[in-house]
Amino acid sequence: MVAIIDELKQDHRAMAALLVQLQRKAQNAQTPEHLNSLRVLLDEIVAFSDGIHHYMEEQVMNCLLSTEHAEDYKSVLYHMIEDHQILDDLAELVYAQIDRGDRLGFRAALIRSADRFVKHHLQHADNEQKKLFFYAERHLTDEQWHALDIKKAAFLAGNFSESA
Ligand SMILES: [Fe+2]
Ligand SMILES: [Fe+2]
Repeated sequence: MVAIIDELKQDHRAMAALLVQLQRKAQNAQTPEHLNSLRVLLDEIVAFSDGIHHYMEEQVMNCLLSTEHAEDYKSVLYHMIEDHQILDDLAELVYAQIDRGDRLGFRAALIRSADRFVKHHLQHADNEQKKLFFYAERHLTDEQWHALDIKKAAFLAGNFSESA
């Protein structure tokens, strides 16, 4: 098992637990306090995936796109990269519903937007587990994993560079 992939899988498990909580909190959100707590949880989920998680996944995808097998999975990988943007957009829709607060009909819209976000997130992670991680473990070389380790260390050190 490659350490990078192992950590991305652990992130997915942790995120799945937070997403289930988010869905439940959206269903039970009645008061301003509930909405605040929902926002804090959504902030946590967004920070989780917008941090090192999406960054490392996209680095793994770029690496795969540079291999001789790239043609085999190009469209699947582009779709996953696009998904990261879609997830950001869906999160914005949940924030928008939280901001609407106690306006008439907000609860149904809030539950619906949270459901869409959670469902898309879980499907995306499942797809990555089955395709992205599978291809990466199969096709990336030790040198490529080593280069990814260096990118990860640089990201964590705040020395972020797409071209490194
Ligand atoms: Fe992803
Ligand atoms: Fe992921």
